[in-house]
Amino acid sequence: MGIANKYLLMVFALSLFNTGCCQCDLNNITIGTQRTGQLIKNMNEWSVRVINSCASSCSYSNLMLSCKGFHTVEAIDPTVFKKQGDKCLVNNGRALVPKSSVQFSYAWDPPFIMFANSSNISC
Ligand SMILES: *[C@@H]1O[C@H](CO)[C@@H](O)[C@H](O)[C@H]1NC(C)=O
Ligand SMILES: *[C@@H]1O[C@H](CO)[C@@H](O)[C@H](O)[C@H]1NC(C)=O
Repeated sequence: MGIANKYLLMVFALSLFNTGCCQCDLNNITIGTQRTGQLIKNMNEWSVRVINSCASSCSYSNLMLSCKGFHTVEAIDPTVFKKQGDKCLVNNGRALVPKSSVQFSYAWDPPFIMFANSSNISC
């Protein structure tokens, strides 16, 4: 086997190793929003699921979403989702373990686009 081939094999082995390692970042939090079809005080109700969709086994604690301007006419359990200024705390800071999710509903028009802003990620 030539030097170049050995080198390629090593790069390949390293990339395999890397996939098994902690690869989870804020992009691996999926936020799915669906219209429920209900109206609350004349506002559409939206069901939001915040999912730890990382393929590796990592937990996200103290997960904050960017949720600037968030409003709702439907009360939300603050231990699931709580607005704090321009950020919203998910699950009261408790870990979203691998493959888990939390869900809440709110009512407003139009819906808000939210994305993960910060978290302590442990793998
Ligand atoms: C994390 O999310 C990014 C962007 O969607 C994706 O390319 C990557 O494969 C995901 N990583 C894991 C380990 O799930
Ligand atoms: C988190 O929010 C802060 C302040 O709003 C912003 O400056 C920063 O870029 C955000 N980070 C991510 C990863 O979205």
